[in-house]
Amino acid sequence: MTNLAEISIDTERFRDDVVSGLSRSQKRIAAKYFYDAEGSRLFDLITELDEYYPTRVELGILASHVDEMAERCGPKCLLIELGAGSLTKVRLLLDRLDRPAGFVPVDVSGEHLESAADQLKAEYPGLAVHPVCADFTAEFALPIRAPRRVVYFPGSTLGNFEPAEADALMRKVAKLVGPGGGFLIGVDLRKDPAVLDAAYNDRLGVTAAFNRNLLVRINRELGADFEPESFKHRAFYNRVRSRIEMHLVSTIDQRVRIGEGQFAFRRGESIHTENSYKYDLGELGSRAAACGLRTEAAWTDPNRYFGMLFLRAES
Ligand code: AVJ
Repeated sequence: MTNLAEISIDTERFRDDVVSGLSRSQKRIAAKYFYDAEGSRLFDLITELDEYYPTRVELGILASHVDEMAERCGPKCLLIELGAGSLTKVRLLLDRLDRPAGFVPVDVSGEHLESAADQLKAEYPGLAVHPVCADFTAEFALPIRAPRRVVYFPGSTLGNFEPAEADALMRKVAKLVGPGGGFLIGVDLRKDPAVLDAAYNDRLGVTAAFNRNLLVRINRELGADFEPESFKHRAFYNRVRSRIEMHLVSTIDQRVRIGEGQFAFRRGESIHTENSYKYDLGELGSRAAACGLRTEAAWTDPNRYFGMLFLRAES
């Protein structure tokens, strides 16, 4: 995972993605690039903010229904978590699973994943924990085999994908777990835009720091000369597309150099850094059905802020 050849392949892909994203008329960079070590640390701080309800609300739903969720996973299942992060939520599930065959957390943030997985191994000595540092939208091999497989995909990470990409990912999960396999997913729901707005524009400015850290990462890893202070954080709810959009808006006319390339920014011009789609549970269930995943159970909180679905791959 950490040999030099692979580091440079990852860096090359990052460079190509940034250069092509900044060459478009609406400049953009994919949200998965937020998560270097510092980005993962900042995201963990976001999850503790008063305004950022999703993590707390999802944990509450999980705590209330974990017995039924574990039951649906079944005995001796191999649990695979996509976009695993700090491995906080999954502990509730791991505590209830019946003799799990193993746990495979998958995440792009290598160091963060390794330390979270080491901690988990120490707390669950009998559990086979096999972290995989990978972009889960690309092909990755499962390090352990087990006939009963369940993918756990919490945190509304699905919301970072365009609808067509999200459908492709659901089809891929159906294939990965195989006929009769499970898919436990958590998604943020449509709600009063004022609540959404506050969650992505916190008073302490942690979300702004998380957004700007992308430029710091590009400077460090790609040898660019962004001045992060000359870009301001902007997040708003796009009602037509049911999504929060995050942008970094240039506050001045400026040029930025990335290796050989130069990119011009007009004052007010933005880099679109994230979409966070908000869902209707019924609608998502129908889309999942079209991807070969039947809804077995759905749970939400009293405010209907967040939803979880247990989906079963068709046999
Ligand atoms: C990890 C993608 C679910 O969209 O709410 C938090 C990331 N961005 N604040 C989200 C995020 C800004 C988060 N997801």
